Formats: sequence, structure tokens, C-alpha cells
Amino acid sequence: MLIKNVHLENDTELTDILIKDGKFEKIAPNLTAAPDEEVIDCNGAMVLPQFIESHVHLDSALSAGDPRWNISGTLFEGIQVWSEKKETLTKEDVKTRARNAIRKQAANGIGHVRTHVDVTDPTLIAMEGLLELREELKDEVNVQIVAFPQEGIYSYPNGKELMENAAKMGADVIGAIPHFEFTREYGVESLNFAVKLAEKYDLLVDVHCDEIDDEQSRFVETLAARAYESGLKDRVTASHTTAMHSYNNAYASRLFRILRMSEMNFVANPLVNTHLQGRFDTYPKRRGVTRVKELLANGNNVSFGHDDIQDPWYPLGDGNMRDALHMGLHVCQMMGYEELLNSYKIITHNAAKTLHLGDSYAIKEGNPASFIVLNADNFYNALNEKKEVLYNFTKGKLIAKTEPAKKEVLF
Ligand code: FE2
Repeated sequence: MLIKNVHLENDTELTDILIKDGKFEKIAPNLTAAPDEEVIDCNGAMVLPQFIESHVHLDSALSAGDPRWNISGTLFEGIQVWSEKKETLTKEDVKTRARNAIRKQAANGIGHVRTHVDVTDPTLIAMEGLLELREELKDEVNVQIVAFPQEGIYSYPNGKELMENAAKMGADVIGAIPHFEFTREYGVESLNFAVKLAEKYDLLVDVHCDEIDDEQSRFVETLAARAYESGLKDRVTASHTTAMHSYNNAYASRLFRILRMSEMNFVANPLVNTHLQGRFDTYPKRRGVTRVKELLANGNNVSFGHDDIQDPWYPLGDGNMRDALHMGLHVCQMMGYEELLNSYKIITHNAAKTLHLGDSYAIKEGNPASFIVLNADNFYNALNEKKEVLYNFTKGKLIAKTEPAKKEVLF
């Protein structure tokens, strides 16, 4: 297959892409098609590596309103509604909703998904369902699964055993939720446990860390120290870290030294945390998003996640990373022209580092032909004009396509 006339990322020049046996065979201008070769002329659209959802909860996705809506809109009512839903969960229900969510994501150009899956459930039914789905969809979307203890590791009956069972079943990543544990000590112990478990099974780590407006919630320093001391370093990710928004600047300055030494990744979830945080504030209300700009300047890798798609914590969303990016750029005040132009890296290359996708993610000759075609000549225009993902390819296979909407102005 020959893809003609595309801008590779934000390159101002046009090039062509030849795909053979699911791989990028040649990338150069003015390639000619062999007889009978399928040709797609993109007329100056841009090509990017597939978008990456680096933080989502597919086990709860598309369950909003079942068994009831979250009326207060708080994180804690969300956890309560979800624990009621868990009582009636079936594997088929989880798989159907997760599959539908992945189809929405694929339609919006996503090819890699890191999903957290709640393992504070004696039956581990959601984990079982997601593991099956990971296998069933492996030719279309790469799904990475985090064993996520929503109700705590030390504060939930048999929490440690459930985590280890999830690791044995085939989870890719070990999670934790230290700020939700009964005590600060349990929180620290849960991080020690998670890092040791990851080392034992040779897995990555991704912790829901300090997702609270309490400026005293400082588990991120413990996680960073463990990442540094264990040598796991960039195999460790701190998700949310919303309390960092509220840390005093003297503490933040001391903290950023160990964050830099740890080489940890961060995932911010601007849609969901703007909605959930600041709920105990009157005015002024805090934004509830971590210090993205400062972490990037500190040399730490940061990506954005959607976090929730129509579930007890967040009632909206259709799996489009543009929404998370758009919100994040506003809330984090990253709206300089160059920042906007290059912002796709937050949901592509940066997220690829977090997921440890390695060199095979980049668009270059010899790599798997996984990419999207975006209906704009550069990312500033794509972002600004809400341009469609025309094609989404995984290893040379077309997994989703969109016809551009036609708008007419009648004056
Ligand atoms: Fe989350």
C-alpha cells in the first residue's frame, strides 16, 4: 500500500509512505506505486503515530447511571456508586462495555491503551474479562493492564493476595492507591509492597498517587525514592498527583530534586481532575491538576489520560484524546504557539515512554506500520479546527476510518 502526500508529524514538506507486510518499507517523497498497489492520496493531511490513552478505567467505562448517577460529583461518591455496581458485575458486562469503549477510542485514532482494572474484588472478574479482551483485540489495539486496588491494598480484605493473584494472572503493571488507605503508614507500606511485587514479576508500576486536595498527602516523595533506590526508575509512573497542585513552593522545590533523580513518569488527567478536585473549596477553587509545565521543565516525562469515560466518576467522554489534551493545555497554561503545535507529543511520544513501547513506536522504515492520518497540515490546525482522524492503521491493517463532516455556510 502506498500513502501519498502527507506531512510527517509537523514537517512542512510532503512525503510518501510505502507499506509492505505490515511494516514501513520506505518513507520518501515521490514514490511510485507498483502495478495493482493500493494507493491512498492524502492530499497534504498529516501522519502521526497512533494516539495513546495512558490512563483509563475500562472496567467501569460506559456504566454511568447504573445502578445510579453520582449526584454530588465527588470522587468519594464515585467510589461508593462503583462499589454498589461491583456487586452485580459479570464478566460479559465488563467485556461488552470495555470493547465498546475501545472501539470508540480506535475511531478517534488510539492504538495503545493502558487501563487500570479494579482488583479489590474477591472474584477478580473484571481482571479476567480484560485479560481475555486484551488477547481478543491484540491485532487491533494494544491493551496494557494495571492491577489497580481501588479500595486499598492494606485496607481491603486480602488486598495483598488479590494483587499477587492479578500479577500471576497476567497483569502488565502493578498499581496502588496510598492516599486512600486507612492510615499514612498503610499508604507507605502499600508502595513498598507494590514496588517489590513489580520487581518479583518483572512488571511496570503505575500508582494512583495523591489524588486528593490535601497538601499533606505526600506519597509521591516515597514513590520517587523507591523508584530511584530500586533502580526501576522510568518503569514507574505516578498518576494524578493532584495534591502537588497545593504543595507549598519550598516543599515542591525540595521534592523536585528526588523527582528528577527518580526519572519517574507522570500522567495527569485534566478532564476528570478538573471535575473532581476542589470540591471542598469554596472560593477560590483549586484547579486540581498537577504541575505539568514544571515537571516537564524538571526533565520528567508527562502524558495526559482521559481517566474515565461515562462512569461513576465522570459522566462524559467518547474516548477522544483531543478532549483531554485540549483541557490540559488550558488548565496548565501551555498555550504558546510552539506548545500547541507540539502538544500531540503529550498523547503520543510521551505516553509511549510511560507505556515502555520502545523504539517500535516511531514512524520509521522497518517499524510496524501503525499510524494515523489526521485531516490537517499541522497539529495546531488539527487541534484548533477539531479535525478528524481519517484513518487509523495497526501494523498495516486499517482498524477505523472517518468521512470528514461537510459544513456549508449559506450567506
Ligand atoms: Fe484513575
